[in-house]
Amino acid sequence: MLKTSAENGNVFDPRNEECGEMDMTNEQYYDLIRPYEDARRLLETRLEILNHSLYGSRAVCGPIHNMQNRIKAKKSIEDKLRRLGQRDSVSNARDYLQDIAGIRVICYFVDDIYNVAAGLKRQSDLVLVKERDYIATPKPNGYRSYHIVMGAPVYCLDAMEYFPVEVQFRTMSMDFWASMEHRICYKKNPENRERLEQEFLTYAAVLKEIEEKFEEYRERRENGWPPEEAD
Ligand code: GTP
Ligand code: MG
Repeated sequence: MLKTSAENGNVFDPRNEECGEMDMTNEQYYDLIRPYEDARRLLETRLEILNHSLYGSRAVCGPIHNMQNRIKAKKSIEDKLRRLGQRDSVSNARDYLQDIAGIRVICYFVDDIYNVAAGLKRQSDLVLVKERDYIATPKPNGYRSYHIVMGAPVYCLDAMEYFPVEVQFRTMSMDFWASMEHRICYKKNPENRERLEQEFLTYAAVLKEIEEKFEEYRERRENGWPPEEAD
């Protein structure tokens, strides 16, 4: 087994807490994120393989438009643990946070999202930790996206441990809305919040309508579109 942070000597000492000295050091942070980086890379490779294999190697276009990834910054880890009422220690980060490693997968169509996610969930060495379908049930503010947290095996000499990676699947229009909403409203407190919320709900509905218009082209794909690459 990988050592826990306590086994590595990061033992909680109440004297330090009183002096406010229990913040994660930079060195502890870099040690903490290393296996999450490994888990993220593993999942990203699986997603890349699904992208060029899911619809057959001769399809011109895979389901994924682009991917982004991030490892949660030290300050964001500390802030989130505080929000959860936990001390910002390495062991609490490992125990309470499932989004230290994140991948955002932007797909063309809604069915691409479900196809790629199903492909990942079928992989027997990965563990499904959490699933939130905000496409089937959007959040009250209009947020749409499909989130899964997958446990990915990270091997260390003769030991293995699963590390969580949060994968957010969105279409381009879901991502456009969420990026703007995140920039302008999410976890912030703008003065004109109520009006903004109403406006963003309207934008969500308009974008969904546009997305559904584009979905009409999905029929063409099922009937042999996009065309196979010429030999
Ligand atoms: P966090 O504490 O924010 O991580 O949320 P959670 O643990 O309850 O999980 P959830 O699956 O609801 O959200 C995970 C992530 O999805 C967030 O960190 C955001 O990146 C994104 N997200 C969730 N809700 C919203 C939203 O209303 N607007 C935007 N822009 N992003 C959202
Ligand atoms: Mg998060």
